[in-house]
Amino acid sequence: MLSSDPIAGVTIDVARRRLVLPDGTRAPFTWLRDRCPCGECRHASGQRLYDPATMPPDLNILDAVLDASDHLTVTWSENNHRSTYRLESLRAAPAPARTAPTLWDAATVVAPVAQYDDITRHPAAMAEWLAGIDRLGFGMLRRVPVADGEVARVAELFGHVRVTNYGRFFDVRSIAEPSNLANTSLGLAAHTDNPYRDPVPSLQLLHCLQSSISGGENLLVDGFQVAAEVRAALPAGFALLSSRPVSFAYLDDTTELRASAPLVALLPDGSVRAVRCNSRSMQPSALPHDDLQADDLTAWYDAYLLFTRLLTEPRLQYRLRLDPGDLFIVDNRRVLHGRTAFAASTAASVGTRHLQGCYADIDGLRSTHAVLGRARDGER
Ligand code: FE2
Repeated sequence: MLSSDPIAGVTIDVARRRLVLPDGTRAPFTWLRDRCPCGECRHASGQRLYDPATMPPDLNILDAVLDASDHLTVTWSENNHRSTYRLESLRAAPAPARTAPTLWDAATVVAPVAQYDDITRHPAAMAEWLAGIDRLGFGMLRRVPVADGEVARVAELFGHVRVTNYGRFFDVRSIAEPSNLANTSLGLAAHTDNPYRDPVPSLQLLHCLQSSISGGENLLVDGFQVAAEVRAALPAGFALLSSRPVSFAYLDDTTELRASAPLVALLPDGSVRAVRCNSRSMQPSALPHDDLQADDLTAWYDAYLLFTRLLTEPRLQYRLRLDPGDLFIVDNRRVLHGRTAFAASTAASVGTRHLQGCYADIDGLRSTHAVLGRARDGER
């Protein structure tokens, strides 16, 4: 039943439990009551004081008035509570949780590269670098002090270190010995780190302290781009890849970590939220019991193998050579990192490659970026 007289352009639709605003938008009673901005319902900090559990199931509107300055005042059946809203505030959508990703390949990518001195001295340079990392899933930092543990201090410039069983930071050391190169200088296929954690660290930083070995380039691949290509080529296989959980595990004397998740995680709108790919720690799936399961596993593998083959394609690999003082950061749920093999046994290949890494999380990065933007916009 519609209320017979629109009140100043606002119609109370009692049957459907909503207000119809002059522009035709609909405001459900429950939605409207929950966002009452009065001092009793909302703290000055912006946090809600009103407990939705106390909302009466038969909540009704007794009166609704829209004034000339576009303020809507509603009187509720609940204790005659009165709420006044700016119409504009009802139309505002919440700020997005993440920057829309820009997919890239080796030909199109413009790496977000910054100098350590710039981002530590100039908030605008920091903000620009962080924005690039959020958009592309990686960034480079040059002229970082070559010091033990500096990688963790860089993470703390914009966020918080995620301490794990590997410590606050960890060493990645490769020593090339011409007599035994095979064991020490192998390439590493592009992967995401720590897929056996729940949640996985969403940022990884790697800082080069020493590099006297020729070869051993790092490579980065946009996992969202790879996922898009697999989805286009093998839609049915991609549907399995994004819905069937895979197990990952890491075990040593003091640690046992296990996690299970699809290789590709999707958002409710179907876009890719995260990839998790590391053949070294992936566990074999259960043996299929019937034809259907076997067909699914075959299709899953076709999509998985295409995913891994795409990771090896030079057109998708952004290559970088790390010299002492260079650091890269990746969104570990999006950009896969790897390393090419070191040079063959020549005099130039003798030496040491010493990196230090640490984990952090992207919420801290996004927070710092948002606060820097707030200062720039003159808010607060
Ligand atoms: Fe890694």
